[in-house]
Amino acid sequence: VTTNEAFPTNFLWGGATAANQIEGGFGEGNKGVSIADVLPGGKMRQQLLREKGLQFAIDKEKYTYPNHEAIDFYHRYKEDIALFAEMGFKAFRLSIAWTRIFPNGTELEPNEEGLAFYDRVFDELHKYGIEPVVTISHYEMPLHLAKEYGGWRSRELVTLFERYAKVIFQRYKDKVKYWLTFNEINGALHFPLMSMGFVPESEETKYQELFQAFHHQFVASSLAVKACREIIPDAKIGCMILAAPVYPYDCNPENVMHALEEERLLNFFCADVQVRGEYPSFMKRVFDERGVKLDIRDGDLELIKKHTVDYIGLSYYMSVTQKKDKMDDELIPGSVFDGVKNPFLKASDWGWEIDPIGLRIILNRLYDRYRVPLFIVENGLGAHDKVEEDGSIHDDYRIDYLRRHIEAAREAIADGVELIGYLVWGCIDLVSASTGEFSKRYGLIYVDKHDDGSGTLERRKKKSFYWYQRVIVTNGEVL
Ligand code: BG6
Repeated sequence: VTTNEAFPTNFLWGGATAANQIEGGFGEGNKGVSIADVLPGGKMRQQLLREKGLQFAIDKEKYTYPNHEAIDFYHRYKEDIALFAEMGFKAFRLSIAWTRIFPNGTELEPNEEGLAFYDRVFDELHKYGIEPVVTISHYEMPLHLAKEYGGWRSRELVTLFERYAKVIFQRYKDKVKYWLTFNEINGALHFPLMSMGFVPESEETKYQELFQAFHHQFVASSLAVKACREIIPDAKIGCMILAAPVYPYDCNPENVMHALEEERLLNFFCADVQVRGEYPSFMKRVFDERGVKLDIRDGDLELIKKHTVDYIGLSYYMSVTQKKDKMDDELIPGSVFDGVKNPFLKASDWGWEIDPIGLRIILNRLYDRYRVPLFIVENGLGAHDKVEEDGSIHDDYRIDYLRRHIEAAREAIADGVELIGYLVWGCIDLVSASTGEFSKRYGLIYVDKHDDGSGTLERRKKKSFYWYQRVIVTNGEVL
């Protein structure tokens, strides 16, 4: 219900996390080993995410494994949820670790200890009136499925995922009304290991492997939507895409065309399938040119057409600027998209270009195209924080970032976009997905944990904590 105010009265303000980045509790409660558990911390992770040769083994002599303890949400969830409640959260996004429910992914019966853990977490959230927003799969597939099945390349994962989804819908049907299927499903084009569980065999077979795996995920996602509607008729289930508007470097038509092609692949390919229920027409040419022949089984396309999502969940961190022929020195070091530097934007310490207007642009582009509600389920700034001698943390740079992005969201609403919520990514400091660092901090709550694994795990409120508290209490009137 919208009012005359800028943000709707029931707007879902809150924060977002993922199980593998906060829980820790490695091996506890019969948890199985996930893909995130074998990813080392530090620069090594970046390399492994792109290269073949992850050993699928844990070598503690050689590496550190930050996700094993993470920030210990597994034991400290009550304290953390109390802090979220103090900030006034209306919603909290978390994911369920597949490996807590099906340790290897192949069991016929779920693990009761894992199920009971999330019951406790959801009950705690409801105690404060906080709505859980749950991602079914966020970079934490069982390692066994990656090792023995080759990840989502295998059709068998569709059935295993459906079993897992049905179990959690059944168990939490009275507690969870907002669901998301695959986190940043489109991101797998750039870093498939975390979400799809494999690195392509070779450059020649890369696209065949990737698009076939996407197809399996689309079928699995549709089956999850179908099951969700049957089991929890009053729930909303969305897809989740990494949203980043793609700009042409200049008005040279070559660059404009190139940016359009990149934009379609990055922002629209997956959403077209999951929201419109069809492969977009432009994919025929992409498949032809890249030698992709999909194995589409009888009934797949009907399933995809019938069980489309209710809303689009999106993450937003940066825009991408594209140029057809680019020189090495124009590229952004550390960028995941191979874009060129945008002369109008400044970047974070990790090279992510900060662009609040880009958020308004992509919200408009998505809403113009799909006309379904949008939900910003991730946005935030990864930065180095300094703890002062008195223990305070003055993260004005983060406040500035969040303020400018929330203003952009408000403008998009004024443009006519139906936006149902805004969740700050990493509302509490957590393990970075791409680098495994603790020092890339997103939180409004500081956690005393460091890259070398040291730290007391003590929680502290940053300046941004109090700022966001006021944003929520005024429903975005005071930014
Ligand atoms: C998104 C992911 O890509 O961005 C999160 O959904 C991730 O899991 C976030 O943490 C920020 O990325 P990073 O690499 O800075 O942690």
